[in-house]
Amino acid sequence: MTRPTQPGVAAARATRPPDDEPRTARALRLARAGRRRPAAKPVANPLREGLRSERVPDPALLVLFGATGDLAHRKVVPALFQLWRTNLLPHEFALVAVGRRPYADEAFRAELRASVAQFSRVLPIETPVWEAFAERITYHRGDFADEALYDGLSTRLDEIDAERGTQGNRVFYLATQPSAFAEIIGGLGRAGLDHEHHAGGWRRVVVEKPFGRDLTSAIRLNREVGKVFRESQVYRIDHYLGKETVRNILVFRFGNGIFEPIWHRRYVDHVQITVAESIGVEKRGSFYEEAGASRDFLQNHLMQLLALVAMEPPATFDADAMRDEKLKVLRAIEPMAAGDVGANVVRGQYGPGWVAGESVAGYRGEPEVDPASETETFVAARLFVDDWRWAGVPFYLRAGKRLPKRATEIAIQFKQVPHALFKESNAAPEANLLALRIQPDEGILLRFAAKVPGLGLDVRSVNMDFTYGSAFSVDSPDAYETLILDALLGDASLFTRADEVEKAWGIVTPIIDAWADGPAPVFPDYAAGSWGPDGADALLARDGRRWRRI
Ligand code: BG6
Repeated sequence: MTRPTQPGVAAARATRPPDDEPRTARALRLARAGRRRPAAKPVANPLREGLRSERVPDPALLVLFGATGDLAHRKVVPALFQLWRTNLLPHEFALVAVGRRPYADEAFRAELRASVAQFSRVLPIETPVWEAFAERITYHRGDFADEALYDGLSTRLDEIDAERGTQGNRVFYLATQPSAFAEIIGGLGRAGLDHEHHAGGWRRVVVEKPFGRDLTSAIRLNREVGKVFRESQVYRIDHYLGKETVRNILVFRFGNGIFEPIWHRRYVDHVQITVAESIGVEKRGSFYEEAGASRDFLQNHLMQLLALVAMEPPATFDADAMRDEKLKVLRAIEPMAAGDVGANVVRGQYGPGWVAGESVAGYRGEPEVDPASETETFVAARLFVDDWRWAGVPFYLRAGKRLPKRATEIAIQFKQVPHALFKESNAAPEANLLALRIQPDEGILLRFAAKVPGLGLDVRSVNMDFTYGSAFSVDSPDAYETLILDALLGDASLFTRADEVEKAWGIVTPIIDAWADGPAPVFPDYAAGSWGPDGADALLARDGRRWRRI
């Protein structure tokens, strides 16, 4: 039975962008130029593609919205199962999978098992362990826009609490299309599912990325979330923060006394952060058309990496202390004036080419992509963090798809020695470099000068290289394992706070706007399998620098 729409839900619906609002880079620019063309329709779910404590969370029930989607099948459920089989979930745990399609519990469990068998990082799946996990999974069908869903869910969750002893503790995990976030949160609020019990039953909500598509929509979404949940109940995911090597940035910086003094403008020439992917947009063309590299990577993963590299030591590792420090970094980055975007930001789009010996299509030839698409698949930016530590030190960031390899790296390039002493050397010593390899081949490299053995005084650069694999010989958890466990434990330090997300959008939105107001880009402008458009090299060349060869 459908009931009359209540104000909370109507408000949530009103936050959805109207259907004809331009959503791709090209549509936005054309609309602004007065030539409106229909926006591409979102077709598919967005797909997105490491344990710290041995603490086991409270009994809890996890309600997974978007349970039939790709993210749930590839990442969330395999991570939950991995936590279960390593005894990191409580015995009193239950998963309620919510989706639009009809499923009997058994059929849905069988599908999940197939996905876990395909995507789990640890195989094979032990049948008895799976069965114990699977009996805790129930499927609940419903349409997110239907108010009856939330009332039905409320009754069902109470029943499960009674059956499974989950004590009223609930995590609502939103792994849906972003356009459904506000609607679901509104529905949860209206049905009273946000209410914490005086007896101690807690409520948390995990919201996937992307959180908004520009500053205005992120503020709007934060407002909708804030009407229902307190900020301390909200866990916004940026899965890069859950990666072991990203978390190690903090240990490296603040667990070692020797690096802190030189982590400074006096010694650092510049910083390069690269997130390179060799894959294209895979089956996510319609999602990517509306995102592009600036929304998919720059606003979140790249900004978070930058913040971790540049932040001051927090007084403690609690969530707010950490996030306060990251926020200060983001606040110290002056949003660009439209006229400065051209000189500081480069975008690109891949054309056909070769990756790992295979011929691949250009972006405009990918499924669900507009053949005249202006969406960028590559972005490079030069940013400055205007604070006492970093003033004048450029941070060069780049991210792109269909680059020659998958590699995420943070390179701290130190300054040259002030005085060239070894004039007899055949080659001048290179400046020191510290590279934090986030993935793959996780490790840390320090480059320094050494004397070449022999009678002369020849100097050459050598590397000191640490690799996680050989130092620890253990597998790292997947980022989703870390993050889901943290959400269950109530530790929000690896999740982004409302003000952080808005600040990051405040930096990226003027860039997107300047592109929308400017002329059409000449795309494609880099071949798949190359390191991006020439403009990216020119961005550094103008400063007398070049990208590190990874
Ligand atoms: C996601 C992006 O956030 O991260 C994808 O939406 C990207 O486009 C993915 O492929 C990369 O994640 P990872 O963990 O493989 O580096």
